[in-house]
Amino acid sequence: MGNHSDGSPDTSGTVARAGQGEVDKFQDPGLPPHRLRLADTDPKAAKRAERQVAALFGISVVGTVVFIISYFAIDLGGDTSNATVRLQNTLLGLGTAFAMLGIGIGIVHWARALMPDHEVSELRHEIRTEEDRVAAMAIVDEIVEETGIKRRPLIRNTLLGAVALAPLPALAIFGDLGPRPDNALAHTMWAPEDGKLKRLSRDPDGTPIKASDVTIGSAFHVIPEGLNELEEGKLNEKAKAVVLLMRLDPASLNPSPGREDWAYNGIVAYSKICTHVGCPVALYEQQTHHLLCPCHQSTFDLTRECKVIFGPASRPLPQLPIAVDDEGYLVATSDFKEPVGPSYWERDMHERSNNNS
Ligand code: FES
Repeated sequence: MGNHSDGSPDTSGTVARAGQGEVDKFQDPGLPPHRLRLADTDPKAAKRAERQVAALFGISVVGTVVFIISYFAIDLGGDTSNATVRLQNTLLGLGTAFAMLGIGIGIVHWARALMPDHEVSELRHEIRTEEDRVAAMAIVDEIVEETGIKRRPLIRNTLLGAVALAPLPALAIFGDLGPRPDNALAHTMWAPEDGKLKRLSRDPDGTPIKASDVTIGSAFHVIPEGLNELEEGKLNEKAKAVVLLMRLDPASLNPSPGREDWAYNGIVAYSKICTHVGCPVALYEQQTHHLLCPCHQSTFDLTRECKVIFGPASRPLPQLPIAVDDEGYLVATSDFKEPVGPSYWERDMHERSNNNS
C-alpha cells in the first residue's frame, strides 16, 4: 500500500509493484534452436543406433531366457544346500535384471538417438466433436510414425520379443506360491518321532539346553536337536522350526485354559517366525518382556502368550509346548498346535477343519 504526497496512507486499493511497467518489454524467448544429432544426418550412424537398440532388446530376451532356464533347469529336488540355492538365486537375479534393464535402456536409447527430438508446443483444448477425435487420432498416428517403428523392423521385432517374454519371470514367481501352505507350515520337526520327544538345542551349534541353563532374563535361539547348519537339505525344515526360548518370573505368565503346562518353571518357547510376513523375530526386551520383529516393528507380549500389542502382525506367535526330560533337558512335548509363519493365507479355515476332524 502506497502513501499520498502529504504522507497519509493510500486507501484506494491499488498496489504498486516494482518494475510493473516493464513487464511487457520481455519477449517470449521461444524454443532453443534445434540441434541435429549424428543419426539425423548420417544414415550409417542411424543404422548403428538401430542395431544398438535391437541389441539391448536382445539382451532383455537373453535375460528372460536365463531366468527361465535357471528356474526350471536347476532342479533343487530337495537339494537346498547353500551353494545350489545361491547359484539359482544369482542366476534368477541376473536374468531379471538384464530382462528389465535391456528393455528400459533400449527404449531410452531409441528415443534419444533415433526418435524425432524437435520440441513443439501447441495449445490443448477439450475434445468435443468428431472432428476433434479424428484430429487426435491423426496426432497419435503421427507419433507412431515418428517413432519409426514401422520403418525399423529390427527394433520392432526385438522389442516385441523382449516385451512378450518379460512377464514370464513374474508368472513363474507367482506360480511358485503354489497351493495354500496348510501342510507345509502346520508341521515342523518338533513333532515327536516314534514317541521320542525332541530336545531343544542351541542354534547353530546344536547342543541341547538344560532348564538350569536358562536364567531369568536370558533368551536362546533354538532348533530341534539333530538339526544344525551343516546338514544339507534341511534349510526349509530349519526355517520352520526356529524358536525363541526365554525365562520369566512364572508369576508374570498368564496361561489361558489348556496351556497351563506349556511352560516349564517360567521358561517359554515361541516360534521365531513373525506372523506378519515371516521375518525372524529376534529382539527380546527383558524389562518389558516384549519380542520385537525388526522388519515392521510388530511387538508381541510374552506375558500374554505373545499377543500382538503393536504393528501389522495379526496373530500371536505360536507357542511350543515344553517340559523337561529325565536328565533335565528341555523337550518339546508336541509340535506347534497351529501353523507357524505368516497369516496371508486362510489359517482360520485350516484351524476350523482341524477342530472339526
Ligand atoms: S514381518 Fe514382522 S512385522 Fe512384518
